[in-house]
This record gives sequence, structure tokens and C-alpha cells, in this order.
Amino acid sequence: MHPPQTTHPRTTASSATCDVLVVGGGVIGLVTAWRAAQRGLSVAVVDPEPGGGAARVAAGMLAAVTELHYGEETLLALNLASARRYPAFAAELAEASGRDLGYRACGTLAVALDSDDRAHLRELLALQHRSGLESQWLSGRECRRLEPMLAPGVRGGLRVDGDHQVDPRRLTAALMVACERAGVVFHRVRAERLCVVRDRAAGVVLADGTELGAAQTVLAAGSLSGRLAGVPDDVLPPVRPVKGQVLRLTVPKAYAPFLSRTVRAVVRGSHLYLVPRESGELVVGATTEELGWDTTVTAGGVYELLRDAHELVPGITELPLTETLAGLRPGSPDNAPLLGPTRLPGLHLATGHYRNGVLLTPLTGDVMAHVLTTGELPEEARPFTPRRFDGAAAESPAPLPPRPQSFTEQPV
Ligand code: GLY
Repeated sequence: MHPPQTTHPRTTASSATCDVLVVGGGVIGLVTAWRAAQRGLSVAVVDPEPGGGAARVAAGMLAAVTELHYGEETLLALNLASARRYPAFAAELAEASGRDLGYRACGTLAVALDSDDRAHLRELLALQHRSGLESQWLSGRECRRLEPMLAPGVRGGLRVDGDHQVDPRRLTAALMVACERAGVVFHRVRAERLCVVRDRAAGVVLADGTELGAAQTVLAAGSLSGRLAGVPDDVLPPVRPVKGQVLRLTVPKAYAPFLSRTVRAVVRGSHLYLVPRESGELVVGATTEELGWDTTVTAGGVYELLRDAHELVPGITELPLTETLAGLRPGSPDNAPLLGPTRLPGLHLATGHYRNGVLLTPLTGDVMAHVLTTGELPEEARPFTPRRFDGAAAESPAPLPPRPQSFTEQPV
């Protein structure tokens, strides 16, 4: 199958052309490439380090219900649609790649440590029920019966059996293999500039000077998506980096099962989550910091995460701390993704997924493949058209970071 415009626009000295060129090899770029290739399009991905990106840091919660926020009901519908696709998506990708994704239908428990948290969770429960979501209130004792490692002071919580998890590093690795098997070509070089020929995106020039022509170009470079030279100002996506620091600990076999499901809390206003994997890895996240392009792991960030996690699950301080990492969520003005065609013909966006990149991976792949083959956004994705921000980036340009080595190098 071919996209609506099958004639490749000519660039000045194109060394290769394809139907679809994806800039950015994180989970969103990879799933777009895989799904497009499955539909018979010739696809290339440009990224010096494909398989990097925000997912390398992310915990992989599929938390459509427990991460619900006021005013984000439209996004909720998208998140739920993607969560519903996860079991079939994970099975198909595991089959296509021969890799296990670490998908676990384990559920989530969101707990309260004091009366303020309890009031917050009660409000969240009311919002969840108004939105038709399944969530059950538990007393502190009931929470501890489910998760005996919880602190005795836990005041109550919400049991959400539909919020699961996947291992984002395994997900990425599987997508890389599936892409390769589907014939996706990888250019392990930085994209330097978008080529625009006769008011149409026509591919990119790489940092090594190679020109790659493409009928359609997809900008899927996470928080760096607003940085590609050559993209007209009024088309640049208004995405910004939102730093998250994340810890990884290991649960020794003698301590297992330490936690059986994802446990979350709001501690002193900060969101905290503990995501236990079957492998024994325990991911603790995450800070939310508006610090531009900084990805330093700070003593303060690690301290706060451990202090709050210790309040929730005191035994955590016994576990080996195996990794600390900071990454950048691609935040958009309304915390929702930008999916589909821009006002520049031939240029599409798949970025701005903010806290939900891993959750939205299956849906984004399907939406982008549909757009790339039909030219139309499917109904469910129409509220997320980049056109809702037309002109926004031009009005408030983000300060430029130092030149990146990779379009997905610094992730969450
Ligand atoms: N979705 C979790 C986070 O962004 O920290």
C-alpha cells in the first residue's frame, strides 16, 4: 500500500528516497516506523542512537486511571484506547521480534499517607467514577493486606486492577528488532535540517551531509522535536523538556515478592511510584522539574525520591540501589500529544506525549500508520491534531539547548 502522494518530491541531490522518513528512534518513532512498514511503505529512521530516548528512563506504568488529572478527560479517552490495545499489541510485537516485553497485568494501588493525601485520593476516586472508570476504595488495613511491605501509617488507597506495566527497555529492544525484520532502514546519524521543496517537506539533510528524500517526514524526536532546523517557525511543535529523575533498585530473591503491583502516592505534593518487575528490578520515580535541558542526577532528587519511598515502604532502604538516571519528558501546552499532519504538506508530528509515551505507544503506531497511508487522522486522534497549536511555537520560542548528539539522547 502506498501513501496518497506516491511521487517523491525531489531534493537537490538526494542519495536515497523512501515513502516515510521518521526523525527520532525512541519508542514513538520506532512504533510509527514499524506500523508504517507493516502497511507496505518503505521506511527509514534517522537517529544516531536508535532505541534510546525517554523510554530508557521511564518506569513503564500503563496508568490511564491512576494518572487521571482534572481537565484531561479528552486525553483520558486516548489513554484508555491505547491501554485496551496493549495486550494484543504486546503479543503481536513479541511474536514479530521474538522478544518478551515484560508486559504485566499486575494492577496498581494508589495510597494515602496522611489526611491531605486521603482527601486527594477521595477526589480522584470521585473523578474516576464520574468518568466511568473502575477503582475501589480500600482502608489502610486492606492496602497492607494486599501489599504487606507498606508502612503501618498508610491511611487508605485506591485499588485499580486495570493499570498495568510494561518494561520500556524491553519494549524498545523489541521494536528495534521488529523494525529491522519489517525492512526499516536505520541511518545512525543526526538529522541536521528539514528539506522543504516548493512549500512541501521533502526529507532531511543528515549531519554528514547526506540528503534523504521522502514523500512524508515524521518528526518524532521527543522533547527535541522543536529543534530541527528548516522547520518553519509556525510549524515547529511547542514541546518543552520536563525533567524526571528515576531510580532503579534490585529486590534480592530472599526479599521477593517485595511488592506485587505498582504502588503510587502523592507525598508532600510530589508524585511517587514504585514499579516492581518480575526480574526483581524495582523502579522508583519520578521528579518533575522544569529545568530546560538539564539531565543531571542530583543528590537532592535522589534524596527526595528515597525519603518519600521510605515513608511509603520502609524496607526499601535495605535494597541495593543499582541505577540513577534523569530524562526529559516531551511536554506540550495541554499535556497531550501532537499527532498527524502539520500545515506544511508532507510533514507530520508524533510527539508531545509527556507522561504517557509508553502507554500511548500502541495507539500512536496505529494512528500514524493510518495517517501515512490515508492522509486522514482517525476519529479518536482528531482532538490531538498539531493544528490546535498553529503559531504557538512561533509566539513563544523555547531557548535552544546545546546541540544534541542524538534526537532521543536524554530521556523519561
Ligand atoms: N508517567 C510517569 C512519569 O512521567 O513520571
